[in-house]
Amino acid sequence: MLKIENLHAEIDGKEILKGLSLTVGAGEVHAIMGPNGAGKSTLGYVLGGRPGYEVTAGSATFNGVDLLDLAPHERAAAGLFLGFQYPVEIPGVSNVQFLREALNSQRRGRGEPPLSGAEFLKVARAQAAGLGMDAEMLKRPVNVGFSGGEKKRNEMVQMGILNPRFAILDETDSGLDIDALRAVGDGINRIMRAPDKAVLLITHYQRLLDYVKPDVVHVLAGGRIVKTGGPELALELEAAGYAEVAA
Ligand SMILES: Nc1ncnc2c1ncn2[C@@H]1O[C@H](COP(=O)(O)OP(=O)(O)OP(=O)(O)O)[C@@H](O)[C@H]1O
Ligand SMILES: [Mg+2]
Repeated sequence: MLKIENLHAEIDGKEILKGLSLTVGAGEVHAIMGPNGAGKSTLGYVLGGRPGYEVTAGSATFNGVDLLDLAPHERAAAGLFLGFQYPVEIPGVSNVQFLREALNSQRRGRGEPPLSGAEFLKVARAQAAGLGMDAEMLKRPVNVGFSGGEKKRNEMVQMGILNPRFAILDETDSGLDIDALRAVGDGINRIMRAPDKAVLLITHYQRLLDYVKPDVVHVLAGGRIVKTGGPELALELEAAGYAEVAA
């Protein structure tokens, strides 16, 4: 589904991704772990098309289509979703306006008719309920004044509404309380566990992987994948650290 080969990318002239290769098949959940500054978020940004990142070599295809050749909104319409490590606050734009605009622009991009306000609200309320988020929060400006955990939950409500085919979730577990962690884990499984979907889960800890069981675990260090294994690799890393396991 996603095939990355020998990807090199830099920002402000500094090379961060240094020959990263990774293949994720349909129906799979892959976890990416790795030290701070290894390039995990950079990988998410490059795949999502964040401006400022320059790909200098390599390729990334999504269902056979050259992902790097598409504008960010075209990648989204193709079914790519990026859950941010640090969700952005957008003062003056209500959550519900933002999400409806995002969903309808993706639907237009796929040649589907837009949802009316009432139709959209039904979908949004159902997703908020599914993630245990108060529907009142849909009326507030996007992420403004949301607590750390509320922002992460809101990212998952967004994912539920957009219903992507491939989700890159960047430390979605950080800052969540115990109940929220379970709600988010259940949400990821409910929304994304399907034979025609896949997930790249960036995380530092086993705790999310207890809920969202990965098929494959990778270690990203120094801008490339240095080790790949099964679910047991996450446990080994937690017990022994990167220096020991991925040296
Ligand atoms: N504009 C920039 N100029 C120079 N270096 C940068 C710039 N932006 C990011 N970097 C560097 O790129 C490296 C990779 O950052 P990235 O956010 O991808 O790490 P990460 O693996 O997600 O780490 P963490 O686990 O802390 O989230 C870091 O060393 C960071 O300082
Ligand atoms: Mg990061």
